[in-house]
Amino acid sequence: PHVLTERGIFRYEQVTYPMEERGLQFGDGVYEVVRLYSGAYVWLQEHLDRLYRSAAAIRLSVPFAPEELSERLEQLRRMNDVREDAILYLQVTRGSFPRSHTFPTENRPNLYAYIQPMARKTDEIAHGVHATLTKDVRWEYCYIKSLNLLPNVLAKQEAAERGAFEAILHRDGIVTEGSSSNIFLVKDETVYTHPATERILNGIVRTRVKQFCGELGIPFIEEAFSVHDLARADELFLTSTTSAITPIVQVDDITIGDGRPGAVTKSLQAAYQKATQ
Ligand code: PDD
Repeated sequence: PHVLTERGIFRYEQVTYPMEERGLQFGDGVYEVVRLYSGAYVWLQEHLDRLYRSAAAIRLSVPFAPEELSERLEQLRRMNDVREDAILYLQVTRGSFPRSHTFPTENRPNLYAYIQPMARKTDEIAHGVHATLTKDVRWEYCYIKSLNLLPNVLAKQEAAERGAFEAILHRDGIVTEGSSSNIFLVKDETVYTHPATERILNGIVRTRVKQFCGELGIPFIEEAFSVHDLARADELFLTSTTSAITPIVQVDDITIGDGRPGAVTKSLQAAYQKATQ
């Protein structure tokens, strides 16, 4: 496989980094994950827009201008001859310099992007998944897609050890989002989700769900809900680039609705299917 870096496209084995790399030592960087279905990027422009926003928020410059970056990613896709379902992983860091907390004086960011196969999670999408509640212990700038993922990693591991697919994070009882997804609650045919404040990552799929709701005439309310609301929810679902729209049918010992994917979730899944085929 080939990898895009700030210096051009190389073979996977050729790309190495010095020990002193700010992404490794400080998590000093930002990233994106983009879906490919049957070899085509899904909502690439929206992901790149968010990448530049995340980078600006930490005062980091992306090595390529937006248009050049999307051309290079297209070239990467062609060189890898991707025809399957896959994901693109892309990260930008503040570069390789002797370790020091302060920014390096030179502007020499590192970028790499590569594509790896990833099948659609058809089973989870069709039947739903279990989730578990965990405290949201992250910082106040969760709208930045930063490389600092330790709280997310710990939450997801805790979920996995409890036999759950995702950790639903809450701050003082208010549900923010998942460890790597956005969370939505359906009550009386209305969709509720945490507003796109600094406390959550405004997901690309989340934005699409908002649009689908508009098109389908489903009320979409950006209002946070609490962990107590889960017991009264008709439906619950999560969204992310890797998991699309996935129903949540159980949260710890709470069964959501009748324990099967609900009608609103299914109609949004159908809209997603139509938009990405
Ligand atoms: N995660 N919230 C968090 C904390 C996330 O990490 C993600 C995505 C989302 C959903 O965003 P989007 O719809 O743009 O994928 C919400 C990616 C997939 C990851 O880290 O692998």
